[in-house]
Amino acid sequence: VCLSQDELKKIAAYKAVEFVQSGMVLGLGTGSTAKHAVDRIGELLKQGKLKNIVGIPTSEITRNQAEKLGIPLSDLDDHPILDLAIDGADEVDPDMNLVKGRGGSLLREKMVEAACKKFIVIVDESKLVSHIGGSGLAMPVEIVPFCWKFTLKRLEMLFMEAGCVGKLRRFEGSGDPFVTDNKNYIIDLYFDKEIGDLKAASDAILRLAGVVEHGMFLDMATTLIVASKNGVSFTNK
Ligand code: A5P
Repeated sequence: VCLSQDELKKIAAYKAVEFVQSGMVLGLGTGSTAKHAVDRIGELLKQGKLKNIVGIPTSEITRNQAEKLGIPLSDLDDHPILDLAIDGADEVDPDMNLVKGRGGSLLREKMVEAACKKFIVIVDESKLVSHIGGSGLAMPVEIVPFCWKFTLKRLEMLFMEAGCVGKLRRFEGSGDPFVTDNKNYIIDLYFDKEIGDLKAASDAILRLAGVVEHGMFLDMATTLIVASKNGVSFTNK
């Protein structure tokens, strides 16, 4: 059988939910892969196979989904330590460093996932890369709207040697700037070359005053579940 990409995402998501136990405080991820995990958690709650779950959503989209499924929800103010988060990623390197945020939810995802004892990343095999930021796909940075062109230029200057080009993310139809759940903008960075030392790149981006957060999730994932046509693989850190 030839499984579609969405079926692979679902397989990875369902595997991750096997690690969920009754009584857990759970970080609920965002995106087309995490959506399957949230659906499955809702289903197991309804069947009575899971009890006393508290979900901490990483976006308004996931909040709406979880509310419809009847998953009890809370936030980081009331639950500053989470047992487990399950979320997708846009890119995963061999050290389990991630790029996230192509769906625009990187800030809340990072806040929630940094507060988790365990963070399971669920992907289909298309997300595996040798170097994050080097695949020709976007590396998102959430910035304040104030003078966004200035911040875009400063970001490009930081990575001039890597041939960095920044683009303000816009809604496809209207062309208006894409606005995050936190009322910020997103700059998507594209690189010609690898960006080199990821920690140094992360620090440099975060030092810019107009930047709120970026989509590199370094040293955060504790388990990786990859679904491929040949089966499911687990890697623990
Ligand atoms: C949302 O902002 C992202 O970080 C998603 O987790 C990521 O883009 C993966 O999404 P898919 O599972 O839809 O590929």
